[in-house]
Amino acid sequence: YKDSFLDLSRNKLSGLVFWPLRNLKILSLSSNRLQVIPEKSFYYMPSLSYLTLYKNPMSSLPVQLMGHMPYIKTFHLFNTNLTTVPGNLFTNMSGLLTLHIQFNNKLQELPSDLFCCLPNLKTLSLKSNNLQYLPPHLFSKQTTLNILLLNSRKKRIYICT
Ligand SMILES: *[C@@H]1O[C@H](CO)[C@@H](O)[C@H](O)[C@H]1NC(C)=O
Ligand SMILES: *[C@@H]1O[C@H](CO)[C@@H](O)[C@H](O)[C@H]1NC(C)=O
Repeated sequence: YKDSFLDLSRNKLSGLVFWPLRNLKILSLSSNRLQVIPEKSFYYMPSLSYLTLYKNPMSSLPVQLMGHMPYIKTFHLFNTNLTTVPGNLFTNMSGLLTLHIQFNNKLQELPSDLFCCLPNLKTLSLKSNNLQYLPPHLFSKQTTLNILLLNSRKKRIYICT
C-alpha cells in the first residue's frame, strides 16, 4: 500500500493542505515550520493509526481538527508553542492507547474534559509542559491507564480535587 505511509517530517513546511487520504495509516509531520494547522486537516483520514506533529511552532489548534479515526493508537504532540488545546481535540480519537503531550514550554492549561473520551488509554505523558494547575476530574475516566508521566523540570503541579 504505497498510500498507507506519509512522512513529511523535516521539510520546512509552513502550510498544509490535505485531500482525503482514506487508506493512510501513518502520518508524520514533525520538524516542520507549521504555525497554523488548518481546520479539518485530519478529517478524511479514517484509517490513521499513528499521527505525529512534534517540533512545529504552532501556538493554537483549530476547534475542528480530527475527523472520525477509529483505528488511531498513537498521537505525539510535543515541542510546540501551544498554550492550551481545544477541549474536543480527542473526541474522534477514542481508540488512542498512547498519547504524548510533552515538552510544550508554553502549555499552561488543559480543558477539564480533555480526556473524557479515551476509554482505552494506556500511556499518557504530560511531562515538561508549563502546567501549574490541573482541573478536577481531569483523569476521572482513565480506568485503563498504566503509565502517567507528569513530572516537570521546574515547577510543582497542583492537582485540585
Ligand atoms: C515559539 O517559541 C519559541 C521559543 O519560545 C520562539 O522563539 C518562537 O518565536 C515561537 N514561534 C512562534 C511562531 O510563535
Ligand atoms: C468528528 O468527526 C466527524 C466525522 O468526520 C465530524 O463530523 C465531527 O465534526 C468531528 N468532531 C470534531 C470535534 O472535530
